[in-house]
Parts: sequence; structure tokens; C-alpha cells
Amino acid sequence: MSTPKKLFIKTYGCQMNVYDSERMAEALGGQGYVETTTADDADMILLNTCHIREKAAEKVYSELGRFKGLKADKPDLKIGVAGCVAQAEGQEIMRRQPMVDLVVGPQSYHRLPEMEAKTREGEKALDTDFPEEDKFEKLKGRRKAQRGPTAFLTVQEGCDKFCAFCVVPYTRGAEVSRPVDRILTEARDLVERGVREITLLGQNVNAYHGAGRDGSDYTLAKLIWDLDKVDGLERIRFTTSHPNDMTDDLIEAHGTCSKLMPYLHLPVQSGSDRILKRMNRSHTAESYLRVIERIRDARPDILMSGDFIVGFPEETEEDFQATLDLVEEVNYGYAYSFKYSTRPGTPAAERAQVDAAQADDRLQRLQSLITRQQRAIQQSMVGRTVNVLFEKPGRLPGQMGGKSDYLHAVHVADAPVQIGDIAPVRIVEAATNSLAGVID
Ligand code: 5AD
Ligand code: SF4
Repeated sequence: MSTPKKLFIKTYGCQMNVYDSERMAEALGGQGYVETTTADDADMILLNTCHIREKAAEKVYSELGRFKGLKADKPDLKIGVAGCVAQAEGQEIMRRQPMVDLVVGPQSYHRLPEMEAKTREGEKALDTDFPEEDKFEKLKGRRKAQRGPTAFLTVQEGCDKFCAFCVVPYTRGAEVSRPVDRILTEARDLVERGVREITLLGQNVNAYHGAGRDGSDYTLAKLIWDLDKVDGLERIRFTTSHPNDMTDDLIEAHGTCSKLMPYLHLPVQSGSDRILKRMNRSHTAESYLRVIERIRDARPDILMSGDFIVGFPEETEEDFQATLDLVEEVNYGYAYSFKYSTRPGTPAAERAQVDAAQADDRLQRLQSLITRQQRAIQQSMVGRTVNVLFEKPGRLPGQMGGKSDYLHAVHVADAPVQIGDIAPVRIVEAATNSLAGVID
């Protein structure tokens, strides 16, 4: 047998990229590649990139620069760029960094094996199509090896919402939902290999409308109820959702489906109706708050998470204050806030930009409010007993780490548990980024 070639994949950005990287590694596994954890001994380096903000895209070019020396020492080394920067920049990447051999967009990575073969012939390979065929079908059959207790599973991809700041509808394309059957097959396969928690992924996951076995149109809630019946699967999560797609059945499922975890990431972006309109979000601050109220009626202890953009074009201090007010009202367990970043080709890119220093100041104020809320919620866990799914050994000997139902990182010293166990843990202390607990 020939020695396997080594593949180093570096993943940037969202959880869907993490999932895609796994699938790309499987696709290249068929070409004789095994994964390695360093670039230094790789025969192929693949950067799976993110284009959501300018900094994310620029990182790719600086990382590529760093690989120049490696390639000079090892001319056979192949360098590929995948993901959303690949989609958005295409050929431009090879123009800026001629040592790049392969550029593949997120909808074409099932064609990677042929593309890799082409690079072995000394040719460049570029594919940023939105092909008709189903890439997931082409990539059927994950490797049957055992794996960790948590997994991502893409059920929906793309976005038709066209928020004025966002590149996703351009890089990931139009909304497509995978058929129910294929998702269930993949879920069962993951469970057979040791997975106990699945996070369903989609850029607009709650707009899921895949076809059932009889061709009927499913909702995400219906899909969750089908997954609820999969023996051995203990926890279900989903991300990312749009407030307008929180359908009645999905809200209800949060109260009635015990496998559906009490954590919901529901981005709002701004608390100002004027800005929300300019963002093309098609909801108001009030309608967002009403949705949360209904979710909390169904599941009172749900932990809310969100995304915010500050310094969106034309945002005034008053608009920003409305965002702070909304955050105060919701009380987030987690929230991610970003300074607006101009993305070429999106409608907001053409508009009057907010002064950078002002945007920095707003980001800092928002983040300190969010951090306060996050800490208070973590602190409120002390004394409570929560279920924890153990994922890996902790940093200290004998320590085990995992996630609570609410997605808090929890570690337990001298834990009498195995990876993959779910056990009740009494929380005794809240640190900045994790909780410490004991098993009584
Ligand atoms: N600038 C800053 N943040 C952005 N996001 C999306 N596009 C931009 C942009 N141009 C944020 C949104 C989204 C999250 C994934 O990234 O908050 O929900
Ligand atoms: Fe981007 Fe989300 Fe808006 Fe779609 S709904 S355009 S992915 S921010």
C-alpha cells in the first residue's frame, strides 16, 4: 500500500464551515489523504474560509503568505482555498497568490477529488459554480469510524433574505433544504458512531422546508420530532434562525420536545426600527421581543443568544441606545456583537459610513452590557444541578469537560464519567468562561 498523503485543513468562520471541512476531508480520504494537524508535514493545505467580515477575508491572504516558504521547500505541496472567500473572489485569489493550486466554492466541494487529481497533473483547478446536482448525495457515506459525542449536520443552506450588510446570499446561494430521509440516515449513522448530540445547521435553519418521504413539505419542527425518535440521540440543537421564521410549531416544540435543548440563537442585529428597516431585516424590535416572549412562555428557562451589528451606516446615538434597551429587555445568556464591516457588492456598502471611532465606542459599550448579562446568568447557575454531556478531558488531570443543556462549558474535577456520558452536575462556581461543578 502506498503511504497516505497528508491533508491539513484550517477552518475559519461559522459552524457550517466546520461541517464542510469534515466532508471535504472525507471526500479527499478517497484520494488517499489522511488528516494531519500541522501544515508543516502536509501534502495538501486547504483553507476553508469565511467572507462575512473584511477581517475574516484578509486573514486568508496573510495566512497564504505564510505558506509561501513551505511551498518553496516542497514544490509538490498543493494549496487550496475553499469556502466563502473562494466563492466571492474566485480567480482573483490565484492572481494575488499564484502559488494557490485550487479554489473551490461551498457548493462545489463534492468535485474536490477530480480537482485534486487535476492539480497533481500540474494544472490549476477552479470551481465556483452553483451546480444542479446535490453535493450531499455525491458525498454520501461518511467514514464509519467512531467519533466524539457531538456533531453538526447541515439541513439547510443558503439564504433568500438579503439583509443589506450580508454576503451570505451571494456566497452560499439561494435557500435549499435537504430531504428529510437523507438527514435521518445521516443522523442515525452519526449516532451509531457515538454521537449523542446533533446541532442542525443552516444559514436560515428555521426556514427549513425539506421534502418528507411522501414529498410533503416539512418544517424544522417536524424534522426535530422525527429526530426525537432516533434512539441513542439525546440532544438536538439548531442554528442559525431568523426571527420571522420562528413558526408556531417550532416555538411549541421548545416546550414539549425534551431532546430539544433550552438554548436559542436568534440574531436581531439592531434594536432600532429605523436601522432594521435600512438593514432589510423585515421585522421590528417589538416583533422580535414578542417572539421571545412566546418562546419563554413555552420554555421559561430558555437561554437566549443573539447577534448584533453596531455602526451600521447612518446609525445614530439614538438608534444605538435602542439596541442597548433591547438587550436590557431580553437579557442574553450569550451574544455576539460586531462592528459593521463593508462588504463589496452588498447594498449597504454604498451608504454613508459611521465614524470608526464612534463605532468602536459603541461596540465596547454593547459588549460590556452583554458581558454583564452573561456573567449574571452564569452566576445564577451556581447551586443548580444541570445535565452535562461530557465531551473531552479537562486541562487538569482527572478533570472532564462538557456542555450543559444551556450550552455553558462545565468542568468537573475527578469526574467518575466517560466521554459521551450525560450526568447531572451541581454547579459550585462560575468562572469567566466556564462553570465548575461536582457530581454528587
Ligand atoms: N459586518 C458586520 N457583521 C456582520 N454580520 C454579517 N454581515 C456583517 C457585516 N457586513 C454578522 C451578523 C450575523 C453574523 C453571523 O455576522 O450579526 O448574524
Ligand atoms: Fe445574512 Fe442571516 Fe440576513 Fe441571510 S438572514 S442575509 S444569512 S444576516
